[in-house]
Amino acid sequence: MIKTEITEMLGIKYPIFSAPMGPFYTQALATAVSEAGGLGVLSEVGLWGVDPLPEMKKHMEYVVEHTDKPFGFNIRTSRNEMRMAVRMCREIPKFIMENPKLKEQCIYAVTSAGSSKVMPESQSFQRLKESSSQIKHFHVAPAFWLAEKCVKYGIDGLCVTGIEGGGHQAYEKVGTNVLMTQVQQAFPDVPKVAAGGIGTGIQLAGAIAMGYGGIVMGTRFIASNECEFPQQFKILIPPAKAEDTILIQGVIANIRVYNNKYGQKHSGTISKEQKLAYEKEFLQSDQWKEDVQSYDRVYDGDVVNTCLPMGQAAGVTKKIENVSEIIESVMKEAENYIKNATKSLM
Ligand SMILES: Cc1cc2nc3c(=O)[nH]c(=O)nc-3n(C[C@H](O)[C@H](O)[C@H](O)COP(=O)(O)O)c2cc1C
Repeated sequence: MIKTEITEMLGIKYPIFSAPMGPFYTQALATAVSEAGGLGVLSEVGLWGVDPLPEMKKHMEYVVEHTDKPFGFNIRTSRNEMRMAVRMCREIPKFIMENPKLKEQCIYAVTSAGSSKVMPESQSFQRLKESSSQIKHFHVAPAFWLAEKCVKYGIDGLCVTGIEGGGHQAYEKVGTNVLMTQVQQAFPDVPKVAAGGIGTGIQLAGAIAMGYGGIVMGTRFIASNECEFPQQFKILIPPAKAEDTILIQGVIANIRVYNNKYGQKHSGTISKEQKLAYEKEFLQSDQWKEDVQSYDRVYDGDVVNTCLPMGQAAGVTKKIENVSEIIESVMKEAENYIKNATKSLM
């Protein structure tokens, strides 16, 4: 058994979270991860024409119907999604308060892709925290300056995510190991989980040795039987090498995706200054609409001309397995590596 401050803080058996992976559906995956002893995290589903708020409510109800274990959820707070973020941060805590099962089981809220203030500034979230809810607020820190900002703002914990990770990434492009080290050096006492290219027990053992209380896996969990991503997407992961993912221009910022036709068409990254300079125009363009709608086409089975966020963890994912097998093998491997590492101590 491995006990960390994160397993203690959240009341979970294993220090392994599933990553939020909007705009895709992940309620079945999140349920399976929680049921297997990790922490399942619901994504904000934002497919074309879908309102994320009722979707999130439905997914929360689904989770508590299928497991009595703790779980969490994600709200994206990027500049472009601010109106929705404010609405979600106001309404979701109210919804949790009204349902005793949700209040007991929904213990983790992770905001990402933007400001760490929106959630704690929401009065309904404050009320939820002041009630008997054990909910903790983490924010994704993909760059050191953002980690500093989050800590200054009084978050409960950080999800430190390096550039190897799938999905939208920071303009700074710092790797998981260096970012984890920088954040640990500056904030050794802040609860932290690590993400970005992580998919093995070797990496969990490393993260624990570096002062982290757990890991977050996205890509490795897509390659699970319970994950409800389209099969055509899932089967791309085990044969993929780490270098089969590339960083390209995404809708919110740069994004790490599978290197298919879509990736090649959008290849090349962008700086924050460049993005800000043409963002307004881009958000009204046909290109933006096409990029966002590309996610919907994944559900029609098109994995060639669509945006498939995928992390370098594909390079350490060998097969599609059940969630419980993934979690158990990662835990076993981590325990062995930690035991072996302690033999080096004199
Ligand atoms: C398909 C996909 C969609 C993602 N969507 C989101 C999202 O909506 N919100 C978010 O905070 N992170 C998102 N991410 C990033 C993940 O939460 C996580 O940081 C990443 O998957 C970690 O890297 P890994 O895939 O190598 O494990 C996404 C990642 C993937 C692969």
